[in-house]
Order: sequence, then C-alpha cells, then structure tokens
Amino acid sequence: MLSKKLQVALNAQVTAELHASHLYLSMAAHFSNADLPGFEAWMRAQAEEERGHAFRLFDFVLDRDGQVELGAIAAPATDFGSALTTMEATLAHEKKVSAQINDLYKLSGDENDYPAQVMLQWFVTEQVEEEKTAMDIIARLKLAGDDGAALLLMDQEMGSRGGGEE
Ligand SMILES: [Fe+2]
Ligand SMILES: [Fe+2]
Repeated sequence: MLSKKLQVALNAQVTAELHASHLYLSMAAHFSNADLPGFEAWMRAQAEEERGHAFRLFDFVLDRDGQVELGAIAAPATDFGSALTTMEATLAHEKKVSAQINDLYKLSGDENDYPAQVMLQWFVTEQVEEEKTAMDIIARLKLAGDDGAALLLMDQEMGSRGGGEE
C-alpha cells in the first residue's frame, strides 16, 4: 500500500509530466510557425515521450492500489523566441523536473517504499539523458550561430529523430 504522502507526490509528478508534455507541444507549434519542421517534429516526439512518463507513474499508482488524482495544468507560453532560447527553456524545464524526481526518489526512501524506489530509478537515469540531449542541441545551436544554412541542416537532423526513445 502506498503511503498517503507518497501517493500525493506521485500524483503531483503525473501532473508535472503532463505539464511538460503541454509545454513541449506549445514549443512544437512555435517551431512550426518558425518554419523549422525538424525541430517541430522533435518537440512533438518529446511531448509524446512526456505523456509516456506520466503514464508510467499513473500505472504505478494504480498497480499499487492507489488513487490517481490529476491536477490542473497551467497554460504554457506560445512564443519562445529563437531555436536557441527555446532549447534553453527546455533544458531549464528538464532541470526542474530532475529536481522533482530526485525529491520523489528521496521521499520513496524515507517512506521505505522499495517498489517505488526501483520504479523511480528509471526516471533518475532518464533525466540524465534528457538534460544531456538538451545540452547537446544547445551546444550545436551555439556553433551554428547566425548561420542560416547551418540551422537548416540541423533542422533536418532534428527531424530524423528515431523512434525507440522513451
Ligand atoms: Fe519526463
Ligand atoms: Fe523530459
């Protein structure tokens, strides 16, 4: 049985992952308007991925005979500026999520909930990957600088983001 405290925290994380999905979907629209279809496709895939994260937690709460309580999701911004500032906003958001996951992992330990800890280990690892990916893209955008041709080439690469990522 999940402790009340952990159940509340897991539910908050379900909402946080859905919020991330909402944010990335808005960034996808922003990239569409900016005529960067590769970045748009990448953000759409990212939004889907965040929904997947929400469902992992959602299913875990239900598997433990807990109660899912979804929270409100704030409306995301619509204009994120350049590709660079958009990806910087992505990295900032991922860092926030990493801190939330770390707090959740600590709480699961404090509550002696070993199944929750094992489940959350996946998220701890995933956040390292999420931050690394965003940092890599930012570094490449900085290399591209004001070179439109380099940005277009990068957009093509972003569009070829393969499946299989979680
Ligand atoms: Fe996530
Ligand atoms: Fe993420």
